[in-house]
Amino acid sequence: MSWVRHAVTSPIGAKVIMAITGLMLSGFLVGHVAGNLLIYAGPEAINQYAEGLRKFPALLWGARVGLLVAFIAHLSFAAYLTLGNRAARPQPYVFNNTVQATWASRHMALTGLVMLAFIVFHLLHFTWRATDPEIASMGEFEVYRMAIHAFRKPSIAASYLIAMVAIGLHLSHGISSMFQTLGLNHPRYNRLVRTAGPAIGVGIAGLFASIPLSIYLGLVN
Ligand code: HEM
Repeated sequence: MSWVRHAVTSPIGAKVIMAITGLMLSGFLVGHVAGNLLIYAGPEAINQYAEGLRKFPALLWGARVGLLVAFIAHLSFAAYLTLGNRAARPQPYVFNNTVQATWASRHMALTGLVMLAFIVFHLLHFTWRATDPEIASMGEFEVYRMAIHAFRKPSIAASYLIAMVAIGLHLSHGISSMFQTLGLNHPRYNRLVRTAGPAIGVGIAGLFASIPLSIYLGLVN
């Protein structure tokens, strides 16, 4: 299986794995934000949705394991590519010619680490309910009440909003890069690829961010 090892350890192979796992993680985010938007339809809609997700444990656990594998692979290959690039060029370029490179593209590691910290906190906060005794005392499917309670606190609303900015930036470059790696790499599509990434990335992050913001502002209560 040396071709497998070669495919995985070559920079192109690593980029393809980053793109495929990035696509899987983005797919999760699209599903997650679509489910979360049910909050605007009222407590019953979102609570029933949370309950519905638990009705098919095999499907839920299959998706969770797939997500975790994609997540670990995405992080590992990101580290491999980042550290590999640094080792190949320990001195920075004399002319740092990054006219084309956006802020988002040059700070993928930073925004990725902010996302990582956010995910750890988010799981402790909403999935394991370990950060707030009042959330821990709520019913298993009382997602609506949990969100209202959480996002009325300025510190929680602000931390989620900061994380959503990092997610928007990360997805903006990540999605464009994924399109290119997976084959949309022709000058004719350059403009499309360069605008689709930020449009989709900011769109997803903006929809997520609307929830803490509208609850904090009292528009949803
Ligand atoms: C304002 C934005 C968000 C809200 C209101 C929100 C809400 C929630 C809630 C209520 C749960 C627990 C569902 C349950 O156990 O019944 C959850 C789980 C989760 N969220 Fe979020 N979420 C947000 C953003 C995000 C983002 C941006 C990510 C990833 C970068 C994310 C990743 C996850 C993961 C991995 C889980 C665990 C899923 C599982 O149980 O398998 N969430 N979220």
